[in-house]
Amino acid sequence: MTKQKIKKLSGTLRIIGDKSISHRALILSSICIGKSEITNLLESEDTMSTVNILTDLGIQIKKKDNKWIVYGNGTNGFIQPKKVLDCGNSGTTARLMLGAVSTNPIYCTFVGDKSLSNRPMRRVTDYLEKIGSKVNLTNNEHLPLTIKGSQINLPLLHEISKPSAQIKSAIILAALNTDGKTTIIEPKQTRDHTELLLKYLKVNYKNQKITSGGRKLIFNGPYEIRSKNIYVPGDPSSAAFILVGALITPNSKIKLLDVLLNKTRIAYLSILKKMGGKIKIKKTKIRSGEQLGTITVSASSLKGITIPANLSPYLIDEYPILSIAASQAKGTTYMKGLDELRYKESDRVRSIVGMLKSFGIKTETRKNDIKIYGSPSKEVNCIKTVKVYSDHRIALSASILGIISNNPVKLDDRGKSMTTSYPNFKNDLKKIIIS
Ligand code: S3P
Repeated sequence: MTKQKIKKLSGTLRIIGDKSISHRALILSSICIGKSEITNLLESEDTMSTVNILTDLGIQIKKKDNKWIVYGNGTNGFIQPKKVLDCGNSGTTARLMLGAVSTNPIYCTFVGDKSLSNRPMRRVTDYLEKIGSKVNLTNNEHLPLTIKGSQINLPLLHEISKPSAQIKSAIILAALNTDGKTTIIEPKQTRDHTELLLKYLKVNYKNQKITSGGRKLIFNGPYEIRSKNIYVPGDPSSAAFILVGALITPNSKIKLLDVLLNKTRIAYLSILKKMGGKIKIKKTKIRSGEQLGTITVSASSLKGITIPANLSPYLIDEYPILSIAASQAKGTTYMKGLDELRYKESDRVRSIVGMLKSFGIKTETRKNDIKIYGSPSKEVNCIKTVKVYSDHRIALSASILGIISNNPVKLDDRGKSMTTSYPNFKNDLKKIIIS
């Protein structure tokens, strides 16, 4: 099979809205009092799951002139839903919405697709049960689950055992409607978009650094939050695909505008720079509490490196695309401590290795570590259909390697999963492909 040869990637793109911030913008505006306008909201399957669930919970949400308008009902304002709450493929929807409903006296059933129904939920519900809600999980761990929110909620000290922004955010959302002092300690700092948006919304809480490198958050609820308009910056995790595409395609140079530069999200840029990537980052403005900027990338000769386990919370969504960069780097890349990757949209240790094998790239797995033998001088060919396990980041990563492969890449889901986070990926790519 042949395909049209691509000469390079070149041009300027404005990246779609950040997925994590889009979920939070929707949920937080729903628990504010009054009307919020959200600009640049990511319109993908995942974020639409959040829109639909909030609507089922009595929140009025509509789209007008490219803005999403949310009429918030306050921190205690969700009404009894008439149907099950369908989270689709979205772990963030499930985990954050569980926290949001847990302190409202309503009874909810959460369901999800096959992939989400295999992902752990106790990591969130254990904390919510301590606060006061009653939860029933399938097989003691999974969706479908029911949750009965309580009107009497306990202000507690929560020490989170895993570094997870989803667990932290679920507890924060519960704390906003809990009478008294809730303290949350996270061992390592994870993405802090919930905290930054709350600060932007003028919510008064304490945020302290602790010696482990994590944070201690102290809330004194319940809160009455006034609504404000929210701008969603470009998604750095989606930008990562385009950016790696430019790094591995000879003669490329691209510029990405208005990308979120929150430091909990862009560790992958330091990794790519360490691999030899020519990447320039320029801070431009702060909007709705988050730093934005421009990223410029040129094609580069990459080299393999070791990525230590302690960085994994900061690279959690970027390992699939980093594995593509590694496959085109000289030498071996060693990714360590990928335990949490087992619980993502797919078991990403398995799906990353499978994807690379579909291109004949040599890998080795030892428990939760992956070794990738890069071979930049070897021609890239897709030798069999890539099994993406319905995982958007695997489909997107394989498509990026497809830019430099001799034959078209075949995805077993034909790219359907990309709509989870990056529905206009193919159009964006078309804008910068020079053939
Ligand atoms: C997310 C947090 C991360 C990340 C996910 C989005 C969020 O999960 O992998 O894609 O928006 O809070 P964990 O916090 O569970 O690691």
